[in-house]
Amino acid sequence: MTIRSVVLGTGHYLPKKCMTNADLVSLVDTNDEWIVERTGIRQRHIAGEGETTSMLAIEAAKAALADAKIDANSIDLIVLATATPDHTFPSTATQVQAALGITGGAAFDVQAVCSGFVYALTTADNFLKAGSAKRALVIGAETFSRILDWTDRTTCVLFGDGAGAVILDAQNGGGTNTDRGVLCTHLRSDGRHLEKLFVDGGPSTTMTTGHLRMEGKEVFRHAVVNLAETVEEALHRAGITPSDVQWFVPHQANRRIIDATAKKLGIDPSHVVITVDLHGNTSAASIPLALSVARQDGRIKQGDLVLIEAMGGGFTWGSALIRW
Ligand code: UT7
Repeated sequence: MTIRSVVLGTGHYLPKKCMTNADLVSLVDTNDEWIVERTGIRQRHIAGEGETTSMLAIEAAKAALADAKIDANSIDLIVLATATPDHTFPSTATQVQAALGITGGAAFDVQAVCSGFVYALTTADNFLKAGSAKRALVIGAETFSRILDWTDRTTCVLFGDGAGAVILDAQNGGGTNTDRGVLCTHLRSDGRHLEKLFVDGGPSTTMTTGHLRMEGKEVFRHAVVNLAETVEEALHRAGITPSDVQWFVPHQANRRIIDATAKKLGIDPSHVVITVDLHGNTSAASIPLALSVARQDGRIKQGDLVLIEAMGGGFTWGSALIRW
């Protein structure tokens, strides 16, 4: 008998304000053609004044609870992935816990930037497998609009705000890859690459929040190599071939990275979930947002094998295989 973290429900939330590529033309020297051709992005959502990461996370969590049809108080673990917390401390996860009226269990944030959701899912899965918790709320939530340099066209056109949430329940499985739940996870990091993707501020350096800085070409180069490696590792460990995967739900940073990775892995484009065109890069929120969208529109069904992967600042990267 093996404990499996089975998905009970998903939810997402996007701020009301939507910014198109045309809207960006008034801010920086850019154009719709460049953004669409280089990234696939057509629009992104931007948090309103006073709208914080925890507010987005709370809405996504409520939607996931409703989808799972469970009571918030049955949750005994909240793991929230974000690089844009409401406060330096306490964790945004504890704000979500309070808003949902949950007074038991544990809540904390994890920080792995765009890989944050894969790290959070892995953490929750291991808590459930170890018997340390029974039911987890795993959230990716970001307000990257707050850390963008809105005068830098090489970065400000790429990102958006949003949140996605997944509820995992510890259930008994048979120990094979036909089980429902998280079948395997694979995390990696290489801290030598800080300067390629980072925020130039922080409490113990500048005592300011800072702005996102990125060497886009370098990140792109590493992303294609690292993502293929982590996915191949996950498939190998689970004894699964790319053709067994019903839905490939990658981190949504750039359409070209997604297409190149899917091609390298031999995954048919009709099995790839794409939301980057509508959401931009929402960092840790991108995968749970895409999962929730594909679940809501009926693409992901119970029993489907879903492959997720992400790569972000650090560098960090990772993948997971989930039988829905
Ligand atoms: O989620 C975390 C991980 N992040 C990523 O995965 C992002 C990875 N990187 C990328 O997605 C791509 O590298 C970018 C989309 C950021 C850039 O695409 P690129 O094809 O690598 O373009 P580039 O940086 O080489 O820039 C090409 C040209 C440059 O002009 P010159 O030097 O050739 O004259 C840029 O100045 O495009 C120019 N450019 C722009 N032009 C119009 C850069 N940004 C813009 C812009 N609008 N917004």
